[in-house]
Amino acid sequence: MDKIAVLTSGGDAPGMNAAIRAVVRTAGFYQLGVIGIMRGFHGLIHDEFIELHPRSVADVIHRGGTILKSARSTEFLTPEGQAQAVKNLRNAGVEGLVIIGGDGSFRGGMRLQSAGINVIGVPATIDNDIPCTDYSIGFDTTVNTVVEAINKIRDTATSHERIYVVEVMGRHSGHIALYAGLAGGAETVLVPEVDADLDDLCRRIVGGYELGKAHSIVIVAEGVGGDFQTGRNMEESSAFQIGDYVKEKTGFETRVTVLGHIQRGGNPSAQDRIIASRLGARAVELLKEGHGGHMVGVVHTDIKATPLEDALNQQKQVDLEFHRLAHILASQ
Ligand code: F6P
Repeated sequence: MDKIAVLTSGGDAPGMNAAIRAVVRTAGFYQLGVIGIMRGFHGLIHDEFIELHPRSVADVIHRGGTILKSARSTEFLTPEGQAQAVKNLRNAGVEGLVIIGGDGSFRGGMRLQSAGINVIGVPATIDNDIPCTDYSIGFDTTVNTVVEAINKIRDTATSHERIYVVEVMGRHSGHIALYAGLAGGAETVLVPEVDADLDDLCRRIVGGYELGKAHSIVIVAEGVGGDFQTGRNMEESSAFQIGDYVKEKTGFETRVTVLGHIQRGGNPSAQDRIIASRLGARAVELLKEGHGGHMVGVVHTDIKATPLEDALNQQKQVDLEFHRLAHILASQ
């Protein structure tokens, strides 16, 4: 094997640049050429290829975002788009591809693997919803970003003795909400994986007030929705609708904060840089050894390779112990 390529795809995540750096530097160590593909699968189809050298990734380990950019590509869902992608890779002499992204990006990678291009997936999404790895690149940084925001909200919530509903990202999963809710000392964490009972939420808030709590902070994962125990079908439920319900039922002053895309940026944490460096380097070694069709993940403290088709047939579960513990610790 003489040459590999690397791309980033899906929602960007802090630490992607550290992973790109590890791919390029490890490839250089093994005398492999590296092509950087701009804008994910869109750039793969439109031949947006750049040569990367060990110096190309100087001074990026600490930067959020991705120097290769990312873009959604509906073209890649077509056979013509996939054929063009394979043709471009072959024309460039690329024999292996590292895909840094989420499960949707890995599904695209499986199509390239079927066409004979060896692909290794590196899990990178702030949602941390990729199975076969304890952590995806970006998750730790995002949890820290949310905890910093909760700390700031806690100050004003205490000053004005208010209820705050804080919506966090996570797409259809509650990993960010659970970790940040526990670390941030939130009174309640609402996640898609656990049916939300708004009347129970209100009882907890009133109970906290009677215990002398100066405020309550409710973390809501953006994927929370559907039928609440109140019997009200809140299909498009959001933090705002939950906030209105709490205010109406408890009479307490309530405010809502939707953290949004600040959760996607920022300098990656040390943990994310270490995970990114380990996974990026292992991906290159697997390609060099002739392997493809796998993702790499960190499991406990080891780096583990899992066939993509096995990984993509699983769903990563949230740790409901975090949910139970957060509520125990905030209930007193
Ligand atoms: O998958 C990462 C993520 O940030 C999700 O948590 C969020 O729902 C989504 O991307 C937002 O997508 P976009 O950046 O296209 O608005």
